[in-house]
Amino acid sequence: MFKSLPLEEFYRLINHGPCVIISSGDDKKSNIAPIAWKMPLDDDPPLVAIALAEDHYTTELIDATKTFVINVPDVKLLASLLGAGKVSGRETDKIKKFGAQMAKGEKIKTPHLADAIGWIECNVADKKTYDGVVLFVGKVLFAAADDATFDGCLDPSKRPTAHHLGGGWFSVADKRIKL
Ligand SMILES: Cc1cc2nc3c(=O)[nH]c(=O)nc-3n(C[C@H](O)[C@H](O)[C@H](O)COP(=O)(O)O)c2cc1C
Repeated sequence: MFKSLPLEEFYRLINHGPCVIISSGDDKKSNIAPIAWKMPLDDDPPLVAIALAEDHYTTELIDATKTFVINVPDVKLLASLLGAGKVSGRETDKIKKFGAQMAKGEKIKTPHLADAIGWIECNVADKKTYDGVVLFVGKVLFAAADDATFDGCLDPSKRPTAHHLGGGWFSVADKRIKL
């Protein structure tokens, strides 16, 4: 079961820096791609930034719909979808190829991953391009999380997340401590 989050808590899905899957497009044509480079910008108003290569199909779809979703996979789901970071949605239907289960958006037409720990629906508030890299700033419209894994913040001991170190290497967050 998922519960919607107060918008000012969206950042608690990605504060610890997991590798995420961006879904883009709409109910007719959609795409998925893993990304490591993303960050919360503010909780009120709820803003988030993602960095994408200008020539990614994901970037083209976000430009077309002005929306995107940040999906937070657990390590198992990420491992099953990681191949989506090696091919482009321009040539391959990656949702079909990697067996991603998609679900309808709550506030936008861009679908999200049905099996993720949580997802963050955004529309594009700003876009800047630097030498082939696009920084999209998203205004968060909706966020939801698996209620068994999120109790005010994420508990990765319930569903560990993976963090990209570089190349094929990841670290895994699998415990929560209070300091
Ligand atoms: C672990 C991992 C992290 C990645 N992080 C990013 C990222 O932060 N930004 C980016 O533009 N591409 C990133 N990529 C590459 C894209 O996922 C990849 O180029 C993808 O094929 C783009 O697909 P598209 O053309 O369908 O959008 C990453 C790939 C992997 C495997």
